[in-house]
This record gives sequence, C-alpha cells and structure tokens, in this order.
Amino acid sequence: PSLGVNSNGTRDLAEVLKDNDKNYLVLYGSQTGTAEDYAKKFGKELTARFQLRVMVADLENYDFHSLNELPDNMPVSFVISTYGEGDFPDGSVNFEQYLNELDPDMLDNLRFSIFGLGNTTYEFFNGAARKALDKLQDAGARLIGTLGEGDDGAGTTDEDYLTWKEETIELLQNELDLHEDEDKQFESSFEYTALITIGNSTSLGEPSKQYLPNATLQYNAEGEQSGPFDLSQPYVAPITETKELFQSKDRNCIHTEFDISRSEVTYQTGDHLAIWPSNSDEAVSQFLRVFELDSETIFDLKAKDSTMKLPFLCPTTIGAVVRHYLEITGPISRQTLGLLVSYAPESIKEHIVTLSKDKSLFATEILASKFNLADALLSLNHGETWTGVPWLLLIEMLPKLSPRYYSISSSSLSEPNTIHATSIVENTPNDITGTNITGVTTNLLRNIQVIKNHDDAASLPVHYDLEGPRGLFANGQLPIHVRHSTFRLPKDISAPVIMIGPGTGVAPFRGFVRERCAEVKRDGEECLEKMGKMVLFYGSRDDDDYLYRNEWVEYAATLDAKFEIDVALSRVQEQKVYVQHRLAERQEEVSKLLQNGAYVYVCGDAKRMAKDVQHAIVNILSESKGLTEPEAQEIVKAMKVAGKYQEDIW
Ligand code: 2AM
Repeated sequence: PSLGVNSNGTRDLAEVLKDNDKNYLVLYGSQTGTAEDYAKKFGKELTARFQLRVMVADLENYDFHSLNELPDNMPVSFVISTYGEGDFPDGSVNFEQYLNELDPDMLDNLRFSIFGLGNTTYEFFNGAARKALDKLQDAGARLIGTLGEGDDGAGTTDEDYLTWKEETIELLQNELDLHEDEDKQFESSFEYTALITIGNSTSLGEPSKQYLPNATLQYNAEGEQSGPFDLSQPYVAPITETKELFQSKDRNCIHTEFDISRSEVTYQTGDHLAIWPSNSDEAVSQFLRVFELDSETIFDLKAKDSTMKLPFLCPTTIGAVVRHYLEITGPISRQTLGLLVSYAPESIKEHIVTLSKDKSLFATEILASKFNLADALLSLNHGETWTGVPWLLLIEMLPKLSPRYYSISSSSLSEPNTIHATSIVENTPNDITGTNITGVTTNLLRNIQVIKNHDDAASLPVHYDLEGPRGLFANGQLPIHVRHSTFRLPKDISAPVIMIGPGTGVAPFRGFVRERCAEVKRDGEECLEKMGKMVLFYGSRDDDDYLYRNEWVEYAATLDAKFEIDVALSRVQEQKVYVQHRLAERQEEVSKLLQNGAYVYVCGDAKRMAKDVQHAIVNILSESKGLTEPEAQEIVKAMKVAGKYQEDIW
C-alpha cells in the first residue's frame, strides 16, 4: 500500500474500528500535515496515559454513514485545519459534503470534541472547524468541552492546543471513567527492526528510501520521473540558474530557476511552487549528537495494526529520516518537552518537569531564546547529551518537515519550461545561543547559489549534503511540485491592473508583467493598444534591496506607457514611506483606474501590509465617491467576491 491510504480497503469507519478492536477515534483533516501531527499527538497521549486503543485516521480515507453507530458508542475527536477562505483541507471535501447533507437527529448518538487549526490574520478564522461544529451539533451530536481554536497568526497554536487538550482530557476521564497509568512508558505504534549497519549501504534499493523516505518516486520506461507531482511525489528538478538579488552582503534574496522541460510539470502564471526542504548538515549532526543516534543505522518499521500507516518508506536510514522527514529546526514545544520527561537525565529531571508544566517559565526560559529541540536539550543538560530517548518516540512526536510554498515569479507564457522562485533568506542572529535562526528552505537555496556561482566552492563551508552519495541531488537538484492558485490576471486584456507587492511580494507580479510582455511579442502592436494600464506599487528598504531593478526598465520598454512601477523606498528618508502611502498620494489616478474596472492584486505580508493596503483602497474609494467607510468596505468585499480584489498573502 502506498503512503496515506488505509490498508483495509474498506471505507466504513465502524467496520474498521471493530476489526481492529479500537475504542477511541481521532479523525483529522490536514492540508500540510499540521493537523495530522496534532491528531497523532492527541491519540498517542490517550494511549500512553489511559491505554485507550486509539485509531487516528484521515477524513479523506473514510465514509461517514456509520458515524452514529460506532462500536461501544465511542467518542470522536476531530482535528481540522482551515485554508483559504474558511475552506476545509482538500482531502476533507467528502466530509464537508457529508456535513452539508445531515438532517436533525442523524447523529444523536455521537459524542465528540473538536480542535481547529487556523490563523487570525485571515478572514474566516477556523472556518472549517466552526462549520463542522455547527453541523454536527445541528444533527444532534453532543460536544464534549469547547471548540479549541489554534491561532497560527498569533503563534499560539501550541498553547491553544494544550489548553484545549487539558480541558478535553479531563472531561473524557469522567465521561469514559478513565484511570491514569502513573508508570506510563512510551509505546510505539510500530515494530522496529534494525538491519545491518554499514557505511553507504546499497541494500536500500530505491533512491527515494535514502533521500525522500516520505515519497515514492515513479519512473517511466525512459528512466524519467513520471507524475502526477503533488504532496505525495515531488519532481526532482534540475536548477539551471541561481543568483543573489540584493546588493548588500548582510541580507540575501535568491532568484532560482527550476528546469521542468523534461517533466510533466506544468504551471500557470500566478501559481505557487512547493519546494521540499531538507535539513542542513549542522542541524542534522547536532540532532544526531544530542540523542546519540547513528546516521547510518538502517532500520525497518512494521505497523502493529492495519489502521496505522507507516510514516515513510522502509527500510531507510536514521540519517535520511532526520534530514528529510523530521522538522528539527522549528521552535521546541512544551508538549514535546513533556513527552521527554521520563528520559531526562536524573540531575535535571525536576527542572524539566517544572518547565513542561509551567507555561510562563517555559516561555521565558525556552521560547524567548528561540531554541530548537537540540539547542534546548543540550542547554538544559549543560552541554551533555540525552541518552535513551527512543528513536521511535522522536519519529512519532516531532512534526514532519513539509514543503514550503513560494509565489512563482515567472510567466508560463514566456517561460513554459522554467519556474522562477524569489525567496528572501531568513537568517536572524540569536544573541543568546550565538547561532543564527535560519529558514530551512531559503538557506538551502542560498547555499546552492553560493556553491554554483563560486569557483572556489570547494573551500566554502557546505551546509547541505547537496551531492548525496547516490547523486540524486547532484548539481543542486531539488524536489518540487506546483500548487495551483486562483491568483490570475484578468481574462480581459483591456482591464486595468493595480498590483501591490512590497518585498518578495513582487514575485507574482514579475510573472504577470512578463506574461503581458510575452503577449505583446506574440500578438504585436494591436495587443498593446488594447491592453489596460498596469501599475505596480513596489516597496523595498532602499536601493540595495530593490528586486529585479534592471528588468522593470526592459518591461517598460516593451509595454511602453501601459506599464509603470511606483517604488516606495522605506528607509532612505526619515519618515517611512510604504506602498500604501504611494497609493494614497496617487488617489485620483487610482480611483480613476478603479472606475474603469481595474483589478487589484496584493501580495506579501498578511499581518500588517495587506490590511494597511486594504485600508488605503477603502479610503480612496470613500473619498473619491463620497461614501462612508463601511460603504467603501462593502465595495471592496464585493470586489473580492467577484475576483477583482485578489490577495496572495502569508
Ligand atoms: P521597513 O522594513 O523599512 O519597515 C519590504 O519588506 C518593504 O515593505 C520594506 O520597505 C518594509 O519597510 C516595507 N513594509 C514594512 N511594513 C509594511 C507595512 N505595514 N505596509 C507596507 N509596507 C511595509
């Protein structure tokens, strides 16, 4: 069976639960894997503390007609994340449809609890979980506790989860008469077999088991990778070009070009590129060191029952899993520390217990120093390692490394065979640890850029195992797939376009403008005459980080008066100047464009920029049309519904 499919072959929940002798059900709907991680943690805890026989299952893999007749009337916990405009994850559309078709009393037997993962930065916070709650209750199901709502926008998902979990578990204890086993020891859902430990073993067979243990790579008769390429299989793409876009040395922004000419990968201008990251040499070796793990240990896993799916392809090596599957550089969570208590060295055990229970102490001592797991454990144990932490515990409790998404900065019309990405490199010095907090993918891209463009690359510190002993990543290839978006230029070429994209928010607009240039080159003068005006509001700190500075001149030459870039340099004068200030200054022109049916596009920071920009547009509308602010807001809302005000924000 491939990853992600229940191995029973049936989609009947009650049947699978009965066949596998389960007495608790956790159902999750996950887009990128976060909800899945939380669902598994929750299930794991119920098993460890109360010996419940929990099945943790993806909503995607089941039908729900037996939800009201589960064996022993077992309760169900839902963990559901929200995407886009309050939407359910892609895999949970069948569940949403089921909810929509429920009648009153259809679920009068069901008891449930529910935790949602969302982000207050966006409208429709936790829309999917809230909708599920309403529909389940309307159908007569009884909620245990309250709806838990994780907020990634405030960065509190972890604490929100803990609060919800503590309350819910306490209620479940009463509800199910559960008694805690004080002597709990971690028990894995998998059986582990160690295979031979030899350097650079060839016994693993497929390269993906070594390099991408979490994906099956498929090849056609010509030896080329065959699709579809998505979250279950990336295309390992050659990188044909990579360059630094910033002039100053202290910050980096990397332009990377992926060759898709020999693949079935396609994209459209405005889509997103998913890049599959891998952890750096330093991060991998520090992690291995803390837990005294040997990277070359080859091992096999077998699920203890058929409701469990393997987390990755086996056999594989510890090294491959740490590099490609585990998220090891994110901040450590209080929950994770709690799970490690039983393995804490005696001399510090008491302190670890306190830290794992005391939210505010954990915040000041651990979170404030931005420690990742290895940093934190080493520092807590005065630089000494932690022996005896089960490898399987690490596999089951740590989040998994998921792809990072970037707005594509090329045009599928002008570059059908190449995908461009524009990524700012996250690298913040951490004064406490003396190391840098680095973004895993962006630093990977930066290192590829450095290695590819320097003659003396050999002498540079190599932070990633780019070559790989089997050469899968030789020449800096990286695994990618395309996620389709709805961020699109207007179909009608004569509609004016207002694009607002400070920083790397400019990426999709480079694609848009290149698209229009390609159209003019293909269709000639007539096309240019018909074309509506395109105005790009771009912002950067100063001249040094002005992205694609020379290219805009070329685009203006091709598009003539139809294209204009308005640049807000925020740090070259005393007062900050941002894109929204430039919009306000050009109020008259902007409102005229809007009157002529302009489409508005905003890309970049969701926390503040997108809100400030929307406010500026509302102001312009209300002043130019003599409307009240709420009236102008209604117009923007209607534009959003009609696809005439589109956001690609993060
Ligand atoms: P700053 O860093 O000088 O504050 C790209 O990051 C550009 O966006 C920078 O010039 C940055 O300015 C600017 N920026 C920061 N906050 C913003 C906001 N709320 N709205 C618009 N632009 C912003």
